[in-house]
Amino acid sequence: MAESFPIVDVTDWSVDLYEADGSEEKLWLSSGEQPCRRALFKPNTRNDTAEKADHWPEKLASEVAALFGVPRADIDLAIRSGRRGCVSYDVRPEGWQLQPGFLLLSTYLGEIHDPMDKRHAGHTLDNVRGALHGFGRPPGFGGPAAFDAFDVFAGYTVLDALIANRDRHPANWAVLIGPERDHSLLCPSYDHATSLGFSLTDADRRRILGGSRDWEAFLRKGTAWRFEGCRKVPLTDFARHALGLVSASVREYWLDRVAACEKAHFAALAARVPEMSEAARTFAVELMDANRRRLLDG
Ligand SMILES: Nc1ncnc2c1ncn2[C@@H]1O[C@H](COP(=O)(O)OP(=O)(O)O)[C@@H](O)[C@H]1O
Ligand SMILES: [Mg+2]
Repeated sequence: MAESFPIVDVTDWSVDLYEADGSEEKLWLSSGEQPCRRALFKPNTRNDTAEKADHWPEKLASEVAALFGVPRADIDLAIRSGRRGCVSYDVRPEGWQLQPGFLLLSTYLGEIHDPMDKRHAGHTLDNVRGALHGFGRPPGFGGPAAFDAFDVFAGYTVLDALIANRDRHPANWAVLIGPERDHSLLCPSYDHATSLGFSLTDADRRRILGGSRDWEAFLRKGTAWRFEGCRKVPLTDFARHALGLVSASVREYWLDRVAACEKAHFAALAARVPEMSEAARTFAVELMDANRRRLLDG
């Protein structure tokens, strides 16, 4: 059997900065080793058990994103002074800045965009596409060189559908701005903590998996509510909508990637995630497999 993913002790890492963005207390840390690694420590604050936690969805989602071919923040499970969590390695190349999607939308729409607006007015695929015009694909993207930023963003929506990530608000996607004039790229994907059925108890999981009605109802609850008018739109339909806005070759590329990610691959990755209950693993794998089929059959 493949080895479990490591749990990195970051107690000795030095604190660079307290992260102001996002919802909970988070620290930017630097490892002592050479070359120095910089990462955001995200302690488990909402939940901290093998049943429900913030760190294992981040880890499994980042591994699935890599399998799928979406550039993403590399994640390690971590512990700092006894607090469990994860580290999200800095996606910014040296000298580059991250500009969140809501600032880009504000510039594009000519008015201040509130990332937490309940209706998410203005956060639409058309506006994201318009705002990303002229931006390049993210660093680390292994797909065709012809892809632009929105072609890859469409892949983020497919990833979100696969892992049931309901939290793609416009502070959870971004662009990277470099020191030169033409340095402007879509940022790799980050913050996948709200995915893979992270908030269920093991008893919930068994009940939902045990009845086809409960299961269908659960799948329908995975909606793209962080986008305007999409409160009831399933993430899989939303992803298909995004794929309708890109060329046929880009659409085929992402659907081929979905087809290539098989249930056995998801299971192999989930088996390697420690500090995650067996029921949570089974559920996450079934969820991804069901969403995979919904994406391919649609
Ligand atoms: N790997 C990363 N590299 C660079 N910046 C990041 C990374 N992960 C998160 N951030 C920045 O930190 C903010 C908070 O992190 P996030 O993972 O979104 O936490 P939260 O769950 O609190 O929203 C993000 O909105 C983004 O600006
Ligand atoms: Mg966030």
